[in-house]
Amino acid sequence: MRLAGAELLESREILPGQWLQSYHAPELVAGARAGQFVHVRTGDFSGLVLRRPFSFNTIDPLAGTLTIHFRTIGRGTEWFTRLRPGDRVDMLGPLGRPFEMDPRTQHVLLVAGGLGMAGVRALVDEAIRDGRQVTLLFGGAGARDVYPSALLPDEVEYVVATDDGSVGHHGFVTELVPEYEAWADQSFACGPLPMLRSLASLASSRRRRLGVASLGRKRGAGRPVPAGSPQARRKAFLQVSMEQNMGCAVGACLGCVVMATSGTPQRVCREGPVFGSDELEWEGGW
Ligand SMILES: Cc1cc2nc3c(=O)[nH]c(=O)nc-3n(C[C@H](O)[C@H](O)[C@H](O)COP(=O)(O)OP(=O)(O)OC[C@H]3O[C@@H](n4cnc5c(N)ncnc54)[C@H](O)[C@@H]3O)c2cc1C
Ligand code: FES
Repeated sequence: MRLAGAELLESREILPGQWLQSYHAPELVAGARAGQFVHVRTGDFSGLVLRRPFSFNTIDPLAGTLTIHFRTIGRGTEWFTRLRPGDRVDMLGPLGRPFEMDPRTQHVLLVAGGLGMAGVRALVDEAIRDGRQVTLLFGGAGARDVYPSALLPDEVEYVVATDDGSVGHHGFVTELVPEYEAWADQSFACGPLPMLRSLASLASSRRRRLGVASLGRKRGAGRPVPAGSPQARRKAFLQVSMEQNMGCAVGACLGCVVMATSGTPQRVCREGPVFGSDELEWEGGW
């Protein structure tokens, strides 16, 4: 984790109220991985004391750049839209634990709900770079919310669902999942809590519904794997990236806690934001 100044290179509104900003921040990008995030300080100290967390949307270690993709929903995100190229902000990162891919995984299913795209977008690049096949399911309210396909690599299969049926499948993005779950070796998701809960439920019944015990893969049978470890996450069929409200983002304030099935509270900023879906107590009410 490093604290560094990041210089804004480009800022544009890619969808109504949704911004894509590119920053030059070599110290933060070195070693950063998909699923991690930065905690950014606004320069307006009149009531905006807390930093704001944003996922690494894309990471370019060679150029030393990262992008963030955010929706304006309050004073902090509004403040960022007023920045101009050349302006500098103070960023802390990379924070949190990244997505973990099993080296044997060939077929990667990503599920993004709305702004959840920012949480999985960097994983598209990582998976394609490593020679895997990627299908990305995206769900939005309507056509005006659909993430532009021009911002994705050509290699990805991009499938859209909208609540109002104005583009793609008419209905929730989770309704598309059964079509791909036999094909997928692993799945990764970010989006609203009800979407993640529904995906976790599908993942937990997947083996039974597909009628297979292990999909022909020996996943370290017999060897105990510590809960919450990268190895345990790598073995989970579904990994989710959680977006709880945050205070410190370094594990001190306990403002971001979710409950694990083990009964141990998990700090989203330290033990997460990525969790195996079977690690979390989905009816926890957090
Ligand atoms: C690990 C992590 C990664 C994130 N990545 C992104 C990202 O890539 N793009 C993006 O647009 N947003 C992301 N968020 C959410 C983002 O941090 C908040 O939207 C932002 O801090 C709001 O700041 P604000 O000052 O504009 O709004 P505020 O004035 O602080 O809040 C406005 C409204 O937004 C709600 N809100 C605030 N924070 C969150 C949150 N974390 N989740 C849901 N609702 C919230 C508040 O309850 C309030 O109703 C992420 C959050 C986390 C924890
Ligand atoms: S935000 Fe403070 S412990 Fe996670």
